[in-house]
Amino acid sequence: MSDKTVVLTGITTTGTPHLGNYVGAIRPSIEASEDTSVQSYYFLADYHALVKCHEPERVHQSSIENAATWLALGLDTDNAIFYRQSDIPEIMELNWMLSCMTAKGLMNRAHAYKGAVAENTERGESDPDKGINMGLFTYPTLMSADILMFNANKVPVGKDQTQHLEMARVIAQRFNHHFGDHFTIPEIVLGEEGAILPGLDGRKMSKSYNNTIPLFLPEKKFRKMIMKIKTNSLEPGEPKDPEECSLFAIYNSLATRDEVAAIRKRYAEGIAWGEMKQFLFEYLNGIFSAPRENYNALMENPAEIEAILVRGAERARDYASPFMQRLRYATGIRPLK
Ligand code: TRP
Repeated sequence: MSDKTVVLTGITTTGTPHLGNYVGAIRPSIEASEDTSVQSYYFLADYHALVKCHEPERVHQSSIENAATWLALGLDTDNAIFYRQSDIPEIMELNWMLSCMTAKGLMNRAHAYKGAVAENTERGESDPDKGINMGLFTYPTLMSADILMFNANKVPVGKDQTQHLEMARVIAQRFNHHFGDHFTIPEIVLGEEGAILPGLDGRKMSKSYNNTIPLFLPEKKFRKMIMKIKTNSLEPGEPKDPEECSLFAIYNSLATRDEVAAIRKRYAEGIAWGEMKQFLFEYLNGIFSAPRENYNALMENPAEIEAILVRGAERARDYASPFMQRLRYATGIRPLK
């Protein structure tokens, strides 16, 4: 076992990767993947996708798109271990062990579950659990298995996931207390506030709001999307407030300090929205046009992606499989003699 810091994060495969994913998760993860002093694990959380999405084609397509995106943007798969959750049967096995160490009351308090119950209650449903499956209810346990399986030290996530991580810590501690010191207690690494991008309508960019800007649209469609971003109705020449502008927020998340300062000045001078949109399009297109070509090439050759994931799974199992063997032993699941 190496003594490198282990960094791990998962990508739920239900949607098409968008600019918000890029700024919030993909870009920082890819940068971290180049650091040879850490061992990073990045994976497609396809079993998590099944909680919310029961359309096989969508789960499958999203897995391809997410993998192609991370690879096209330069994920270092020699250094980082890049795999598919469903290729690691040990994770599901650990999920069961952890379930047996997880208080039901803890799951009752999970925001995602509580939110779904609250919606039912608001709608006046007689059954508060209507439409809620056990996957949603035990979502934090599976996420704990993802993390604890590889003894991750650090887990970078968005704010919406912090409660899940706190639960992973509680579950790990309980297991350790009972069966011995097997798991590292994972640390939460919260993404920067500035890494949350507004979408087309100004609300947080999210597939649940249907306001996302997909990363690798064909150039013309990509331009059209940028042109659709909502702005206020100030005329050209009128000074504009960058702090309240989605275009600026997107630019600010990617550009250098000096570039941002220059654009602030243009806002004060009253840059026209049309001009700012064209500027932002050209800027983004400059960043994404080469990766877009890689992406398209990968999308045409899914066998290449598959081979990378299969190799990643082998590397992940090199760790998970003997570890699982020790956990089985520790819990009394052992040969009789
Ligand atoms: N639930 C996470 C999300 O929706 C994805 C995820 C699954 C994850 N397993 C994980 C993130 C383990 C970090 C660690 O964003």
